Amino acid sequence: MHDEQLRILDHPLADDALRLMRDETTGPAAFRGALERMTTLLCVAALEDAPRQAMLVRTPLEETAAATLGGRVLIAPVLRAGLGMVDPMLRLVPDAVVGCLGFYRNEQSLQPVAYYEKLPEAGEDYTTLVVDPMLATGGTSVAALDLLKERGFPSPKLLCVIAAPEGVMAVRSVHPDVAIVAGALDRELNERGYILPGLGDAGDRQLGTL
Ligand code: URA
Repeated sequence: MHDEQLRILDHPLADDALRLMRDETTGPAAFRGALERMTTLLCVAALEDAPRQAMLVRTPLEETAAATLGGRVLIAPVLRAGLGMVDPMLRLVPDAVVGCLGFYRNEQSLQPVAYYEKLPEAGEDYTTLVVDPMLATGGTSVAALDLLKERGFPSPKLLCVIAAPEGVMAVRSVHPDVAIVAGALDRELNERGYILPGLGDAGDRQLGTL
């Protein structure tokens, strides 16, 4: 699948984290550890083109040019599986704001409906990173991106551990501008909307609710 806005990590550490997360014998603690390592790599990749603010710093010897991340960062985890991606992101970007989004599925329309939203006041200077480990049908990701854009957060990016082609296409058809950074692009969805080969339910795997 060729998609200029889709970046799949190509790194041995990402492979290793993914191997552990896929393995059905990996328990919740090891799963969370691997998810944190994968998220760190996703966050580094997603912020490669983030704005920088030039500044000066005084070393013990002299003043020199330096830079810091420009603007503000919003981390937007989609409840509940996205929560496990927040801490590693905050370790890299300690001043980021975390805005949680929750959706349930309307059983008639099968569409995601927002039941929880806690966001800061929007601003043009935000770099917005939506975090949700599994991009499956794409319904929730599209709803999260719709909501963030409606609220005034420009050009969000989507970070996920595994993307399915169906999910990438769904996001692409509504949000062609949104960059997706993923640990892997898997084969397909099964009839229940699970990614194959995937890793199972990312929320249950993290929290032990299997
Ligand atoms: N959500 C998950 O947690 N896993 C899948 O495979 C698909 C959606």
